[in-house]
Amino acid sequence: RYAGFASLIENGPVQKVTLFTGVTVWLVTGHAEARQALTNPNIVKSFTEGPHQDHVPAELVAAMNQHMLMANPPDHTRLRKLVSAVFTRRRIDGLEPRIKQISASLLDSIEGSRFDLVSQYSYPLPITVISEMIGVPTDLRDDFRRLSSIATSGPLHTPEDYIAAISEMADLLRGLIEEKRSEPGEDLLSELIAVRDGGDKLSDDELTSMVYLLLVAGHETTVNLIATGIYNLLRHPDQLTKLRADRSLLPAAVEELLRYDSPAMITFPAKANAPVQIGDVTIQPGEVVLPTVWTANRDANRFSSPDTLDITREDNQHMAFGHGIHHCLGAPLARLEARIAINDLLDRFPTLRLADPAEEPARYPNLLLNGMTRLDVLTD
Ligand code: HEM
Repeated sequence: RYAGFASLIENGPVQKVTLFTGVTVWLVTGHAEARQALTNPNIVKSFTEGPHQDHVPAELVAAMNQHMLMANPPDHTRLRKLVSAVFTRRRIDGLEPRIKQISASLLDSIEGSRFDLVSQYSYPLPITVISEMIGVPTDLRDDFRRLSSIATSGPLHTPEDYIAAISEMADLLRGLIEEKRSEPGEDLLSELIAVRDGGDKLSDDELTSMVYLLLVAGHETTVNLIATGIYNLLRHPDQLTKLRADRSLLPAAVEELLRYDSPAMITFPAKANAPVQIGDVTIQPGEVVLPTVWTANRDANRFSSPDTLDITREDNQHMAFGHGIHHCLGAPLARLEARIAINDLLDRFPTLRLADPAEEPARYPNLLLNGMTRLDVLTD
């Protein structure tokens, strides 16, 4: 992966490539160029570049893709405003004690001196948090988890398997919405339904799409921030020692872990709707633009010693959460979860180390998400 991305950086900040999916895109690998691309109003999100779009039935596209990440103004503005009203900073900050409780109970259940950090800690933590926040009952979580993993690795599955997964997800979401409608709870979905039923600002399809986005975006990336973040700390003992000694460095350390090995490698595809100049390149109407935030965060024109992990780095304006109008809505939640998770792991296991330090852990075969399938660690 590093070698692949390093060669992308060498090939220049804006380059035309044909992906393994057969789609030709402009990869925007430079930091300044990615910012330009993500703030240019003539580069707009386009779902036709999503996986297997020629095959997915229109009814399913409508039910699952009418969310803010695929929307452009004015729809984007309306959808983001609606969810921002219930996804508030106060609500996120109020989650801290509960996240700490979930973290502690996961750590309590770890037995023996060797464990897989991904399946036993970094995956269950964010999925439990976002499920509780949205109001997904415990018995549905494994299904959502299975389907979400297919949904986020669409090109690796056949169109039939991909469509079957999305379709099952849509049914689960519709069922859940009906349940919450008849029996509302103290959760975000019940509040969104109240918004939906209180006026005509949110259609039924927009509601299923929004819950789908929040569920998937709410855990598939945070799991990687925690696991890959711990991996990178364990591989840099000098940085780990500093952090162990001074926990006030945690917020800066989380930012640096986000920059150094970004959990989302790209932002979602977008298309030019007019000729657009990015760096030295003019992108023509209809051409696809794919900013790669992983490489933007390693751009030597923006960061000094970009390949060095430095948890005291200043002026760390990374793009791990994207940029512009689609800047990650869940960034405060992701940061809070990562701080708690890293802090609690370091507290609980004073000698935490990699079980196989000579081996590079297997990463997901995924263009969007940068994560490990497992990470064995030792605690003795
Ligand atoms: C958007 C990354 C956690 C919800 C984005 C984008 C990125 C990103 C790069 C922009 C995508 C684009 O422009 O195409 C991350 C990372 C996370 C994380 C690295 C964890 C480390 C979360 C969490 C939530 C969330 C916990 C909670 C629900 C969203 C939503 C959007 C978004 C709703 C779309 C915003 C919009 O279109 O206006 N995220 N995310 N994310 N993220 Fe996150």
